[in-house]
Amino acid sequence: PISASQWLNTVQKEELKEIIRYFFEDASEEEREALYSCAKKLREIHYGKKVYFRGLIEFSSYCKNDCYYCGIRKSNAQARRYRLSEEEILACCQKGYELGFRTFVLQSGEDPYFTDEKLCSIIREIKRQFADCAVTISVGERGRESYEQIFQAGADRFLLRHETADENHYGKLHPSELTFSHRKECLMQLKEIGFQVGAGFMVESPYQTYGTLAEDFLFLRELNPHMIGVGPFIPHKDTDFAGYPAPSSEKTVILLALIRIMLPKTLIPATTALGTVDDQGREKALKAGANVVMPNLSPIEHRKDYALYDNKICTGEEAAECLFCLSNRIRSAGYIPDFSRGDYIDMQDSR
Ligand code: 5AD
Ligand code: FES
Repeated sequence: PISASQWLNTVQKEELKEIIRYFFEDASEEEREALYSCAKKLREIHYGKKVYFRGLIEFSSYCKNDCYYCGIRKSNAQARRYRLSEEEILACCQKGYELGFRTFVLQSGEDPYFTDEKLCSIIREIKRQFADCAVTISVGERGRESYEQIFQAGADRFLLRHETADENHYGKLHPSELTFSHRKECLMQLKEIGFQVGAGFMVESPYQTYGTLAEDFLFLRELNPHMIGVGPFIPHKDTDFAGYPAPSSEKTVILLALIRIMLPKTLIPATTALGTVDDQGREKALKAGANVVMPNLSPIEHRKDYALYDNKICTGEEAAECLFCLSNRIRSAGYIPDFSRGDYIDMQDSR
């Protein structure tokens, strides 16, 4: 596994394209299983059989952007919008804390209502009340000063998927104000400031090719993020991409395994989107190198309104039910649910 890792770190674009194409199109069942077991070994070297839990709080479904794939894009007049108050967010953390969570992920659309001041006040309050917890922020693109303030307020991690590392492909998924070069700049700044940073992309998004996937791999290698979120693109009925079919889990699982091999220390979630396209999707991801799950702690009355894509699972379950279900699934797959902060391996015990 270690030499596979070294090898994937040196191959160039054309070879990467061919490797991905081979596993998608030509590889036998045995070859794919060998790929997964190689990924699994590398994950076990660094993280053992632990699967880290993060409590996801989707605190605003307002968004000023209009990404073509996303169900909460601003031009979707059908979307029901909500915002949680600071008290509501803290109540979600309280419930999560009682359930055992020690990491909270605060995610929203790009909602200008949450100024730096409001967001930082929320972060400071969470860190004050739950001092042994890690806070992850996922609120999209902001300026450097804003990211610095968020870090100063106590946020530990920041998730900002790059979506695609091919500028031309980026332009086919987003309105022209949004560019890959700016997204990349944001990610570089976040890393410089000192966040544990998460990047990532969707699998089988419209216009994705072996070439764009190879660019994703090269970019991930360059950024070397602490976390990488990769899940299937799932069409949303009120977007331009409504007519696309929802993919199977297969390609996502192959890419997760390749990413684990290329960047063995990365934290990789088994995403809700993968569980949506395949009931066993998250288990398959764990067996191919994923080591994180992010169950939803958002208030149940708003769950369905944070619909980035159609048919999202776990929107009707209370946090405790989801936790119970997921822990059981993880144990049945042979892994160990872990409720510690779950930092990147080189940063454990460093704070
Ligand atoms: N299908 C799958 N994932 C999506 N996301 C947004 N819209 C969709 C969709 N239709 C992902 C994006 C974003 C993350 C929060 O959710 O990659 O970064
Ligand atoms: Fe939410 Fe199974 S993980 S119901």
